[in-house]
Amino acid sequence: MKKIISVLLSVALVATLLVGCGGSTGSASGAKKVGVSMPTKDLQRWNQDGANMEAELKAAGYEVDLQYASNDVQTQVSQVENMINSGCNVLVIAAIEGSSLGEALDMAKAAGIPVIAYDRLLMNSDAVSYYATFDNYMVGTKQGEYIEQTLDLANAAGPFNMEITAGDPGDNNAGFFYQGAIDVLQKYIDEGKLIVVSGQTKFEEVATPAWATETAQSRAENIIANNYVDGTKLDVWLCSNDSTSMGVQNALEANYDVAGLGWPVITGQDCDKANVKNMLAGKQSMSIFKDTRTLASQVVKMTGQILSGETVDVNDTETYDNGTGVIPSYLCEPVFADVNNYKELLLDSGYYTEADLQ
Ligand code: BGC
Repeated sequence: MKKIISVLLSVALVATLLVGCGGSTGSASGAKKVGVSMPTKDLQRWNQDGANMEAELKAAGYEVDLQYASNDVQTQVSQVENMINSGCNVLVIAAIEGSSLGEALDMAKAAGIPVIAYDRLLMNSDAVSYYATFDNYMVGTKQGEYIEQTLDLANAAGPFNMEITAGDPGDNNAGFFYQGAIDVLQKYIDEGKLIVVSGQTKFEEVATPAWATETAQSRAENIIANNYVDGTKLDVWLCSNDSTSMGVQNALEANYDVAGLGWPVITGQDCDKANVKNMLAGKQSMSIFKDTRTLASQVVKMTGQILSGETVDVNDTETYDNGTGVIPSYLCEPVFADVNNYKELLLDSGYYTEADLQ
């Protein structure tokens, strides 16, 4: 009798495994499986995004296949293809390069697997079902307004000297950050109240491929060497995010007279630990807090809604056209952060511990 029961159990187990793995979707345990493709472990924020997504999805009962692609496009393509072949039911993708996943996305579409673009929009593909991000234009607006207020541009005579460092041209977000800030500052540039001494103002001139700290640093070193070693005062450096801001800060520390002329106003985004420490040390003026827990929760919610056929929660159906049409989006709100509110935002909320910032 025992033997019969055990044989029946084995048959049932094999049947479950076959249904789970042999079909186009599903996992061995019968739980729905979500593939989460992240760009890199090199930048702090993506580690947090990945960890939060994994924890929240597991807590909601999903199986998770989380992969990081070392900022290598081909690696990301293969990882996404593997997720499709291994039966993921939904794909959540933060692209390294927005337009490079075309074929993998076509595969997902052919297999009927919905795709959520995570933080960065996936471009030129009609396989993208939804987009969840922070309001990227608002990030730039907040950086621009901070500069406007801190230098009191509306009232002060100026002129003030400024430089600009933007993000990766392959990341659709980068243009939104840049444009949001420039739309606030352009009139002061036109009036001559803000002078970009290097003359480099266009997005293509100020962009930083792969958002790399080293690239931002070497461009900043050139700008300083060519324009600021003669004692010319630099008043402000608009940086789109923390990794590029760090490059600029490194370059200033080594090549600009910060002791004599003082640190310029320097912006950032992400509240990376190293940058928060630099804010506390007076080297970076502000950052933007994008609570990755909020974005992860939203994406888990959208995943559940997609899988159960419910209406998916979006709050923007106008802004993000990926070249094939507008992708329904959910935009979380970015929050201004500086030394005055970091405790409340980052410590009291449990995002970081005191030790993280020492
Ligand atoms: C994200 C930023 C991040 C940057 C570099 C952008 O797509 O929105 O938060 O700083 O990528 O990783």
